[in-house]
Amino acid sequence: MPELEQALAEVAAEMAERTDRGRVATYIPQLGKVDPKRFGIAAVTNDGRVILAGDADQPFSIQSVSKVFTLTLALGKIGDALWQRVGREPSGNPFNSIVQLEHENGIPRNPFINAGAIVVSDVLLAGHQPREAIGEILRFIQFLADDETIIIDREVAASERATGYRNFALANYMKSFGNLHHEPELALGVYFHHFAVAMSCRQLAMAGRFLANGGRNPATGHSVVSAERARRIGALMLTCGHYDGSGDFAFHVGIPGKSGVGGGILGIVPGVASLAVWSPGLNENGNSKLGSIALEKLARMMNWSIFAP
Ligand code: DON
Repeated sequence: MPELEQALAEVAAEMAERTDRGRVATYIPQLGKVDPKRFGIAAVTNDGRVILAGDADQPFSIQSVSKVFTLTLALGKIGDALWQRVGREPSGNPFNSIVQLEHENGIPRNPFINAGAIVVSDVLLAGHQPREAIGEILRFIQFLADDETIIIDREVAASERATGYRNFALANYMKSFGNLHHEPELALGVYFHHFAVAMSCRQLAMAGRFLANGGRNPATGHSVVSAERARRIGALMLTCGHYDGSGDFAFHVGIPGKSGVGGGILGIVPGVASLAVWSPGLNENGNSKLGSIALEKLARMMNWSIFAP
């Protein structure tokens, strides 16, 4: 069996046996219904191989992994003007923290914490009705993954809206500083729906291909973003993609990665492959516990750390 297939099979087999699987997110009630014993992993290489193991074709709620795609879309719309409204530095705080917003005049530290992603949703709402903006985000993700079967799980979106008090607080606070151009209700309407996009590891790894291939879709050669922008999104994933666990992910795994509370992680091996892993149980930072361990094991087996010679 070729090396990568062997590696993914070995990782999936080991993760299936692990009992310390972390805790499934319950603050969004719909996510609390997911079976923590699930585990899937996928690798899509720049030379076109799609390698799967475990529950790699089982859709799950991508949650904050969607922030990679909304950031890409927003940069496509307003370019570097985005950085007037959101920073590019790690926050060192939990993903839903409000603490820095007061000291930093309503400007979120980066686009991957919830406050930053709310501003990005506000940017994507510009000139649209929420339904149109949501449709544009879904079509963009379907385009990246080359898969029109990807849907938004309306029950997850409704469950998130019903319990989204912290996000409403963040949105209202930024509105009070003038850093939200639409009513919080409308910006959050877009926000709650893109988090509820349901994708499998196969679909998610496919959607991340452009980031592993200098901004181009390796199958078509189509340029999704410039090589420079792909590098910069990768840099943000490395420094901010796991919130106050980003340093630990860089230390143990050593590749750009973006996590979500649904238990998914998108990992990018620049020039080589796009990776997606799913294990619903989370660690203390709200990142997939076994997903992080699986990527650490795979990156070591394949010598994929960006810090490796
Ligand atoms: O807004 C929230 O809290 C969730 N929709 C997303 C948080 C999340 O995925 C954090 N990532 N680990």
